[in-house]
Amino acid sequence: MDIHFSIPGGSRDKQYEELIPQVEALLGGEHDLIANLSNITAALKYGMNFLWTGFYFVKGRELVLGPFQGTPACTRIPFGKGVCGTAWKEEQTIIVNDVDAFPGHIRCSSETRSEIVVPVFKKEKVFLVLDIDSSKSSDFGETDAHYLEKISGIIEAKISPEDTSKYG
Ligand code: SME
Repeated sequence: MDIHFSIPGGSRDKQYEELIPQVEALLGGEHDLIANLSNITAALKYGMNFLWTGFYFVKGRELVLGPFQGTPACTRIPFGKGVCGTAWKEEQTIIVNDVDAFPGHIRCSSETRSEIVVPVFKKEKVFLVLDIDSSKSSDFGETDAHYLEKISGIIEAKISPEDTSKYG
């Protein structure tokens, strides 16, 4: 399935405005969390042309790699470590304009220049994080945070009680 934009290469907020209904349609009536997260990573990578898109699940005191699109990544990140562990600890979206300037950044690809991590909550606790890497410096801003947090809300609505016991 392709992701369609009416204006290819249009502004990023217009791209998200067109992407989000397509993400909602992709999820449709599907309840399987892994299937839905997998399609979201593909929609974001190929729709927005990001370098790496993926999820990490909170499991005990670590994050563990979930569905992703891109080159292989580190599988486990401790609480509070790296950009992902910091977003989990601070329970908020973190934007890093220059990954080399972020203390403790965990490098998975030599091509990564900037990064955004958005937590997904369930019952007011971080359940997983969405991590996106870009090969361009300062590629993420408030527009990305705004729309990716919308996607986080869409995911949150799809997390079932079975998912929280299975993956948490
Ligand atoms: N850079 C992340 C690690 C995950 S990879 O980017 C896929 C971090 O510092 O947490």
